[in-house]
Amino acid sequence: MSSMSPTPAEPSPSRTAAVIPAAGRGVRLGPGTPKALRALGGTPMLIHAVRAMAASRAVTLVVLVAPPDGAAEVKNLIDGHALPERTDYVVVPGGATRQESVKLGLDALPDDVSVVLVHDAARPLVPVDTVDAVIEAVRDGAPAVVPALPLADTVKEVEPAEPGVPETVLSTPVRARLRAVQTPQGFDRGTLVRAHESVAVDGEGATDDAGMVERLGAPVVVVPGHEEAFKVTRPLDLVLAEAVLARRRANDGF
Ligand code: CTP
Ligand code: MG
Repeated sequence: MSSMSPTPAEPSPSRTAAVIPAAGRGVRLGPGTPKALRALGGTPMLIHAVRAMAASRAVTLVVLVAPPDGAAEVKNLIDGHALPERTDYVVVPGGATRQESVKLGLDALPDDVSVVLVHDAARPLVPVDTVDAVIEAVRDGAPAVVPALPLADTVKEVEPAEPGVPETVLSTPVRARLRAVQTPQGFDRGTLVRAHESVAVDGEGATDDAGMVERLGAPVVVVPGHEEAFKVTRPLDLVLAEAVLARRRANDGF
C-alpha cells in the first residue's frame, strides 16, 4: 500500500542490541535453581538484567540466552513481567560455556544491528548511566569498550597447586595499573563476530568478550564501571544485591 509514497533517502537504521548470557548453572552460588532464574527482591535475576539493558533508550533489542533446557521457561518469564514496549525481546537456548552462549546469542541478531552489548545476567543491578557510557564510546568509534574499576585488593600471580598444597607466589603486578572489568561490554558488531569466529572454545572458554577482541589485535578501551555492576557469584553477593535493592526502594520514596 505504501508503494505510491516516495521512499525517503535515509541510510538503513543501525540498531543497538544487548545479548544477555544467562545459561550458566551458578555452581559457585551453590546447588539449586540456575543462577539467572533465582529471585532478587522477588524478581528473577535475569529480569533485572533485561530491565537494566532496556532502560537505555538506545537499546531496541534484547537477546536473552537461556539455560539449554530452559528457553520456554525464560520466554514465559519475559511475557510475565512488565518491560519497556519500545524494545524487542528474543530468547535462544545457550551452550555449555559462556563463550558458546554468547555466540548463540550473536547468531540470533538481525542484519540491522551494528552495535552489540554483551551483558552478564549475573550483573542484574548495573545502572543505566554505565550502559549508556559504553554505548556512547562504541558510537564514538571504539571497536570494543569495557566498563572497569580499580582494584581494592592487591593481586598476586601464583603457581596453582593441588588442594592442600601451598601455592607459590610468582609475581605481584602493580595494582594501580590493574582494572576489574564488568559488563555490559560494547562492540562494533563486525569486530565481535570476527572475534567469536576466530577464537576456539578452549576448556571453560573465554570468560570475557573483550579479551577475544584483544587477541584479534583490535583496541579495547575502558570507561568507568560502577560498584553496583558487581557480579553475583557467591552467596554473600546475594546479600549485597538485596541490600542495594532495599536502598533503591528507600530512595524511591517507599
Ligand atoms: N553463562 C552462560 N552460559 C554458560 C555459562 C555461563 O550464558 N554456559 C552466563 C551466566 O549465566 C552468567 C554469565 O555467563 O550470566 C557470567 O558467568 P558466571 O558468573 O560464571 O555464571 P555461572 O557460570 O552461572 O556461575 P558458575 O561459574 O559459578 O557456575
Ligand atoms: Mg561460570
